[in-house]
This record gives sequence, C-alpha cells and structure tokens, in this order.
Amino acid sequence: MAHPIENTLALLQDAMIAHQQALARGPSTEPSQPVAEPRDLRAQLVLRLLTGVEMRAGIEVSQPAAEKLLRLLAAIDIGELEAWAAKLDTLPASHPEWLSLIESLTVHETYVMRDPSQLAFFAAQLPALIAEAAASKFYLLRFWSVGCATGEEAYSIAALTLDAMVASGNAVVTETGANLVAPWQIEIVGSDISRLALTQAQAGIYDTGPLSSFRDESEPTLRHFPSVPAIGANSVARRSASPDLKATVSFSHFNIIDDPMPAEPFDTVFCRNVLIYFSARARKHAQETLRRAVRPGGYLLLGPTDTLIETEAFEALWAPGAVIYRRRKDDA
Ligand SMILES: C[S@@+](CC[C@H](N)C(=O)[O-])C[C@H]1O[C@@H](n2cnc3c(N)ncnc32)[C@H](O)[C@@H]1O
Repeated sequence: MAHPIENTLALLQDAMIAHQQALARGPSTEPSQPVAEPRDLRAQLVLRLLTGVEMRAGIEVSQPAAEKLLRLLAAIDIGELEAWAAKLDTLPASHPEWLSLIESLTVHETYVMRDPSQLAFFAAQLPALIAEAAASKFYLLRFWSVGCATGEEAYSIAALTLDAMVASGNAVVTETGANLVAPWQIEIVGSDISRLALTQAQAGIYDTGPLSSFRDESEPTLRHFPSVPAIGANSVARRSASPDLKATVSFSHFNIIDDPMPAEPFDTVFCRNVLIYFSARARKHAQETLRRAVRPGGYLLLGPTDTLIETEAFEALWAPGAVIYRRRKDDA
C-alpha cells in the first residue's frame, strides 16, 4: 500500500491539474481558487493555505508548491492543521505566521550583476538620468529593487550608479571610496517580503565560490566588494559590499501584493525574477503598482521571462539580449 503522503499527493495532483486547466482557460480578476476540492482533508487544507498565500503574496498555486507544503506539514496532526488554517484565515498578510509560511514557498536565488546585458543597458541610460537630475536642480537619483532577496541586485545598481557618477565628475574617488559631490544624493531602496533575506541584505556580506553571489569575477565588479576576514579556519572566503555602496542603499520590508506603493515614484524600478512565481492575477496587480512606482520618463526592468502587461504606459527599448521599458512621459 502506498504511504499516506503519497496518496494525498496523488489526490493533490488531480486538484492541481484541474486548477491549471482553469488558469489556462484565461486570466481571472478573481483570486485563484482551486476548482476541484480534493477528497483528502490534508490535501484540502494544503490547497486552502496555498490559496491564502496566493491572495496575500501573489505566489501561484502550483503542484511543486503543494508538494513542498504537504511534506513540510506532514508531521502536524490533522486537527491541529485544521485549527491553524482557520486561525490563519483571520490574520493579515503581514502577520509573522503568514510570513513564515510564505518564506517556505519563496526562492531567494540571486547574485551580483545578474543579467549583465540588461544591467549594461541600464548603465547606458545613467548619463542621461544624471543630466536630467542636474537640470531639475534636485540632484537626486532614486532607484528601487523590488524583490531584492539578499541584496545583491541593490548593491549592483549602487556600483553601476557610483561608477557613472565618478565618470561624469559628480563623485570623486578617495581612499574611502566614491564620495558624491554636494549636493548630489543617491537613494537605492531594496525591498522584499522576506525579513530573513533582508537581514542578510543589510549585512551585505557574501560567500565566494562556485554558484555563490559572485559569478561575475571581473575587476570592475569585485572592486566594489572588498574581501573580509574569514570567520574560521575552514570557512569560505567572503566579500562585503563596500562602505560607499552601503551609504547609498537601504532595505525595507515590502509586499508588492499587499502594501501601498511608496509615496514618491522612482527614476528606475527593478522587479526581476519575482513575477515569474506569481499567478496571472497577482502579476497584473503587481505590474499596476510597478507602473505607478516609476516616474513618467523613468525606467522599469523586469526579468527575462516576464511579459509587460501595462503596454500602453511604457515604450520598450531593446539592446542585444536585453529589454528595458521607459514609462511614457504623457502616461497619467
Ligand atoms: C528569485 S528572487 C529575485 C532576486 C533578484 N531580484 C534577482 O533578480 O536576482 C525573488 C524574490 O522575490 C521575493 N518576493 C516574492 N513574493 C514577493 C512579494 N509579494 N513582495 C515582495 N517580494 C516578494 C522573494 O522573497 C525573493 O526574495
């Protein structure tokens, strides 16, 4: 006889197939609802929790997520699980119990200078962004990395921006790093739903080695991440975001599905490799928020597999291996 978990998994699989067929029939503006109730109570509860996660954090109800959750919750007594699911229904998305459930279903894979063609294309826009900020007399550049995970993306944006500021004569390099010429300011905000990832981002210290945060080991990148002493004799070599990068970057908790947009729009918003995990409903909601978060004339960078939904609001700019979107100046 099959193990009980395997039985439940098989029942979940049927429900998932039905759910995915419903999704394939077209995106819905309603929250994703599993269409077939599995007969097994444990499977029903897992689907209920996943639906709650989709509504609160956008993460798609999928077979791999269901299997993962089922295995994680396998040891919990069914009565306890039922009571917990009922309690969660009454709690807001920002409650630590939802956040730890969401944490178990998120992927924090990231690294320094990920998708170099797209970042190089962004860097090519920096001289014009700097000139605009100077012409406006605000002397301020604001960038937002949404779904920044452990912070490598935010620090990469900081490294490119400081290099552009030095090249344009608006920052000078001293032994403490790049210093902005007054009155220039750079504000780079990294946000994520995961408090755990944000704690690592704030520390800004990363292991080196294969598949680490450093897959680009070129001198212009590593220069911004000096080596830090190893912790013990057997520990791997580590590098830290330099003090001048840290001075431009701050991190904050943000759920793109549940939280209101920051008060002031940004010159460029990055939301890369985040929406790929979302349901169609959540992708649409998130892109509406992203659109309003980019100032007219500013840029939006999505992940390589993301499709822009807000097509009227943006024009696509193409470079070899990269696309970035510029919000139309007349988009209201
Ligand atoms: C794969 S990482 C992408 C990291 C980085 N942007 C990159 O491209 O390398 C996806 C991140 O999105 C975050 N995330 C998932 N759902 C989110 C939500 N509703 N609001 C904000 N961040 C979310 C996850 O916690 C995870 O850290």
